[in-house]
Amino acid sequence: MSISRLLSTLSLAGLIGLVAACGTVHRSAPLLERGVVAAPESQAAEVGGEILRRGGNAVDAAIAVQFAVSTTNAIGAGIGGGGFMLIHDPDAGDVVALDYRETAPDGARRDMFLNEDGEVDALLSVHSALAAGVPGTVRGMAALHERYGTLPWAELIQPAIDLAEDGFRVDPWTAGKIAEYGAKFAAVDERFREQIEFQLYFRGGLEDRMSIPDLAKTLRRIAERGPDEFYTGQTADLIVEEMDRGHGLITKEDLASYRPVWREPIEGQYRGYKIVSMPPPSSGGVILIEFLNMLETFDRLPLHSPEQIHLQAEIAKRVFADRAEYLGDPAFADVPVGALTNKEYARARAKGIDLKRRTDPGSIKAGDLPVRVDTDGQTTHFSIVDRNGLAVSNTTTMNTGYGSGIVVDGAGFLLNSQMNDFSAKPGVPNVYGVTGSEANEIAAGKRPLSSMSPTMVYSPEGDLVLVLGSPGGSTIISTVLQVILHSIDYDRSLAEAVDLPRFHHQWPPLLPETDPISIEDDGRYALARSTLDALMELGYTLDEVEPIGDVQAIQIRGRDVTGVFDRRRTGGVAYQ
Ligand code: GLY
Repeated sequence: MSISRLLSTLSLAGLIGLVAACGTVHRSAPLLERGVVAAPESQAAEVGGEILRRGGNAVDAAIAVQFAVSTTNAIGAGIGGGGFMLIHDPDAGDVVALDYRETAPDGARRDMFLNEDGEVDALLSVHSALAAGVPGTVRGMAALHERYGTLPWAELIQPAIDLAEDGFRVDPWTAGKIAEYGAKFAAVDERFREQIEFQLYFRGGLEDRMSIPDLAKTLRRIAERGPDEFYTGQTADLIVEEMDRGHGLITKEDLASYRPVWREPIEGQYRGYKIVSMPPPSSGGVILIEFLNMLETFDRLPLHSPEQIHLQAEIAKRVFADRAEYLGDPAFADVPVGALTNKEYARARAKGIDLKRRTDPGSIKAGDLPVRVDTDGQTTHFSIVDRNGLAVSNTTTMNTGYGSGIVVDGAGFLLNSQMNDFSAKPGVPNVYGVTGSEANEIAAGKRPLSSMSPTMVYSPEGDLVLVLGSPGGSTIISTVLQVILHSIDYDRSLAEAVDLPRFHHQWPPLLPETDPISIEDDGRYALARSTLDALMELGYTLDEVEPIGDVQAIQIRGRDVTGVFDRRRTGGVAYQ
């Protein structure tokens, strides 16, 4: 019996089901029919496909796609941002996690977003130069390249240089978002208007084609001089000059000392399947596993029945309350990962759930009234598998759409607004409506808590069967969870699993005395009227929101691989 099969059998017997953050051993994958890239934008997908066809591996393709989406999909990705990646390596027999999340600058302080009355000035953490954490993308890609890359660094950046220099197609979804955010940034609080020069980003022209000449120059410098150019070279100087203009905090020392971190992924079991996802400073993996552990203590309920949605809302209240209390950067807070992902803990936590009655969210834990600025999570996820079974699940973000809206003048890229992912004040929600505690308070050098959940799913036999992830702020966890459930519990094809309607609950109500479930406002993803009526009868309020998430996923069955992009936004799949 192979080690992975033995481990899988033992886990089925419940002997290792409680183990969370540990190394993972998997059987070597067979040679697949083809490699595949599922990306949130079709030109970037094609960049990845071309790298695979040229003989690059999945990580080479991931680096090239990361720089490409940073160009074509700036709403949710950028070299001014950061992210998380899982890499399944069939040769080494393990999965590793790369954390290239932004860090708080050295000058950051716990109360930096509070006004003189001690109240949160929410816009300051989204639209000012103070909103930006030290970007992690470029050194993240360099760490990946050093460990797994086979093609030259410059060759992997060249496609993005070409897109930025020669121009790329602007699809209707992207054009719509540029117009929407252009209007939002133009109307932003006047304190920030001078520095948010969003239109600078488009000075290469914008109709159905767009180029970003300053970004092309920056990418060329990074390609020619290496990743340190961003952190200690001319690009670093341009970032610091932008900080000086806007009274931001990022210094040359902050940039020079930024480092990505290799981490052990989070691992759990759900009905015999192994789920591997991102550890802290993301909450994604821990909350996903805690959720699945609680769900597993109930019988499977009919898909999208009022009972199924009610059960998931009840679980969400409990896991999001735990997220708020316990999760943060493990370098600064003692995060009880093992306890939160323990099956016994989940069993005990699920005991209070009544399938016929709602629990008042306030009785689980009360939050302050929200200060909500925005609702959309404009992050970016792509998944890649090559013919040798090397697989990448990557979620990257600027936080809010186009980040802070501040363009680094002369460098052609936007700065993230990741500082808003910290808890500016205990119990006060951030832009995603999630709260936090001391574990996620601001501190110099600390990484803000995330919901990003790049994930891999293994069959009971130990084979990698699903690679997936999504944008969407706190809704990421619900999105990834529901696609996994559609696939495992309801046996849907990957395309169906991604296309089925989604819903979301995250516990602290925006208004007191309410218990809101978010449902999608697009008729294509509508739940049955009878289901909605039954949920309202139970006392839930239904909150119609933009389509939830944007999943790019890959399914592996034997030697066959299929990539899927989400119809909710735009996207593409390219094959080797
Ligand atoms: N900025 C969204 C997240 O990391 O969850």
